[in-house]
Amino acid sequence: MIMNKKLVAIIAALLIASAYSAQPARAEGDAEVGKDLGYTCLGCHGIDGYRNAYPSYRVPKLGGQKAAYIVVALKGYRAKTRQHPTMSAQAISLSDQQIEDVAAYLASIGGDTVAEGGSTGASLVQAEDCTECHGSNGVSDNAVWPTLAGQHEDYLLWALSSYRDGTRTDPVMSAQAALIAEGDVAVLAKYFASLEGLETTRPE
Ligand code: HEC
Ligand code: HEC
Repeated sequence: MIMNKKLVAIIAALLIASAYSAQPARAEGDAEVGKDLGYTCLGCHGIDGYRNAYPSYRVPKLGGQKAAYIVVALKGYRAKTRQHPTMSAQAISLSDQQIEDVAAYLASIGGDTVAEGGSTGASLVQAEDCTECHGSNGVSDNAVWPTLAGQHEDYLLWALSSYRDGTRTDPVMSAQAALIAEGDVAVLAKYFASLEGLETTRPE
């Protein structure tokens, strides 16, 4: 039987996802405790259209992103599987518990559109391979996988390019990104950005 590469990658992803859920329960984050730390984060993530200086792309929206994914991302910056000097500097000094707490706080503010399921915009044929994991409206229903709907287009483009050139690595997404046709990268970033979903979080 011939298995295509996409199928192999999806099976691998499901195995990894079940490995995650087989781990002992994480210590729950405490949003109240994470609030003080969270204010530092909102200095960048809480300002509409705030930009990374170089290369220039907008700081990702976190409103509506699930706490578990925020935890995965912060651990990635801490372990440098995600290379970004500023974010690594933020994450490197945080303990596992502080990461849980700040993620719980950030996930507790904003994100009403995602909670309502996002928009049901026109579908895009190239995005069909993505919905398996990122949800049919770009709203992921797996807590450790990111929602893409409504994210800034230039950040999505940057993220996909980073997987493709190996500066960001992930056991699941690196393989997926490598399969995207060159000409579809920008099309996909534009598409997911156009769906309603994530929001810029603001302190209450
Ligand atoms: C100086 C500005 C700045 C500050 C302060 C900052 N961030 Fe970030 N953050 C960024 C930028 C820029 C990125 C995108 C980095 C990249 O390209 O990977 C990012 C990425 C992230 C991501 C990944 C989002 C995704 O969709 O994958 C998370 C989660 C995150 N930051 C959380 C935090 C938390 C928590 C704090 C506070 C402890 C924080 N950030 C403080 C600028 C900042
Ligand atoms: C088998 C599951 C799976 C499939 C299929 C998949 N992804 Fe992903 N994707 C992931 C996971 C898991 C992550 C988070 C990885 C990490 O922590 O860096 C991710 C991350 C991303 C990110 C970064 C988001 C952020 O906030 O930083 C983008 C952009 C993305 N995927 C786009 C796509 C597109 C476009 C497709 C379809 C061509 C696709 N993905 C298909 C699992 C998948």
